[in-house]
Amino acid sequence: MNTFPEGFLWGGAIAANQAEGAWNVDGKGMSVADVARFKPSISVEDYKSQWHVSLEDIAIAKETDDVVYYPKRRGIDFFHRYKEDIALFAEMGFKVLRVSIAWTRIFPNGNEAEPNQKGMDYYRDLLETLRAHNIEPLVTLSHYEMPLYLVENYDGWVSREVVGFFTKFSETVFREYKDLVTYWLSFNEIDSVFRHPFTTVGVIEEKYADKKAAEEAIYQALHHQFVASAQATKLLREIIPGAQMGAMLTKTMTYAETCDPDEVLMAQKANRDNHFYADVQIFGEYPKHVLNYFEENGFQIAWTDEDLQLLKDYTVDFLSFSYYMSMVVSKNAAQREKVGGNLMTGVKNPYLNTSEWGWQVDPVGLRISLIDLYDTYRIPLFVVENGIGSTDMLTADGTVEDDYRIAYFRDHFEQMNLAIKDGVELMGYTSWGCIDIVSASTSQMTKRYGFIYVDADDLGNGTYNRFKKKSFHWYKDVIETNGASL
Ligand code: BG6
Repeated sequence: MNTFPEGFLWGGAIAANQAEGAWNVDGKGMSVADVARFKPSISVEDYKSQWHVSLEDIAIAKETDDVVYYPKRRGIDFFHRYKEDIALFAEMGFKVLRVSIAWTRIFPNGNEAEPNQKGMDYYRDLLETLRAHNIEPLVTLSHYEMPLYLVENYDGWVSREVVGFFTKFSETVFREYKDLVTYWLSFNEIDSVFRHPFTTVGVIEEKYADKKAAEEAIYQALHHQFVASAQATKLLREIIPGAQMGAMLTKTMTYAETCDPDEVLMAQKANRDNHFYADVQIFGEYPKHVLNYFEENGFQIAWTDEDLQLLKDYTVDFLSFSYYMSMVVSKNAAQREKVGGNLMTGVKNPYLNTSEWGWQVDPVGLRISLIDLYDTYRIPLFVVENGIGSTDMLTADGTVEDDYRIAYFRDHFEQMNLAIKDGVELMGYTSWGCIDIVSASTSQMTKRYGFIYVDADDLGNGTYNRFKKKSFHWYKDVIETNGASL
């Protein structure tokens, strides 16, 4: 039985810093993504160093215009080719495209008095192009691309002043694009702050006396993002009545290795910790277990009564999330084989296959996640990232026979269909990297997620021409039939 509701928002997702390139064009300032180096071969145990950037790395990056080893500076040249790309998305029948607005195109350092007009014009044209193709934009305000200037001069989000700068950025884009955008997300994967603090909140951990001090600083930065998100939601309600703000979580579904209650408790803790971020944005307050944790550790997070009231008054309208894999926890983790992920490592699940990058592929886990999230929060859900990274081969006749990708999507869509049947309210689905883009964690180009192949290699060589993969035609059918063709 096909249960996808009428008007289901099928589409795809990208982020400015992984797609646009043009890192220093038309007044754009440097963002944290522009200092991220190409890091293709990181071990499973060491996933965190994929994302790591030190003060020295920043200093070196600022001295060079290199775009070979800083691949996000070149992206896939979406900045110049977005019309062609959007036409291809429209050909697939996309109802929605998730994009982000690079803060540094609008406010190059993040704190200018006036916005950069060229940046404003760029996004206006991009959003109007989407509308002309009847594609609904879903806009992320902050997707791992905060201004580098704010990291260097304000300690990133640890500084309260950054809330004010972000509020100004949000207000500026809400006013500018109020006739064009209905669906907004504040912070991409807001729970990633501990997994890669530099990219998310601009925290350089080694600047702090020890691990605990860095952890406290990250919680402070996170609190500021919660407040900034609520503040943006408040402004959104005033400026664009009827618009909707979503929270965005990395859904890191965790299973216990056995039915040993101690392990079940470990898994419950992992899932609860994952949900904490959604709890604040949906219930409007910090859960007691987190407050207890702060107290036990002597963390003094600076907040005001007004902050807490704002969190309470301006909760989100829907919950969006990324879903790539599930994880396993075990009391005997040290003796177990490990698997990777862009964000974490865990124990290998013997019932699941892994992607070429070692991510555990678990479509049923998506159904479980959807049910869990819906039963907990009872607000509409939106899958805004999902997909499989693979090395694709372009054939002589200009396509990619990516049956493995089709199988991945089919399996996940079937589970979404079943979750809807289970009573879950699902607004839509945007596959990650619907056109090949630069990887967030390793900055590889050859880790491809798209329905559209981009002729560029890891070092940026290639024509950058676009080619339709086999999955392009398959996804088109899925959208055309609203899932009935599965
Ligand atoms: C998510 C991010 O965590 O995972 C995306 O929001 C990212 O930006 C995606 O691209 C896939 O990860 P990666 O490292 O394979 O690009």
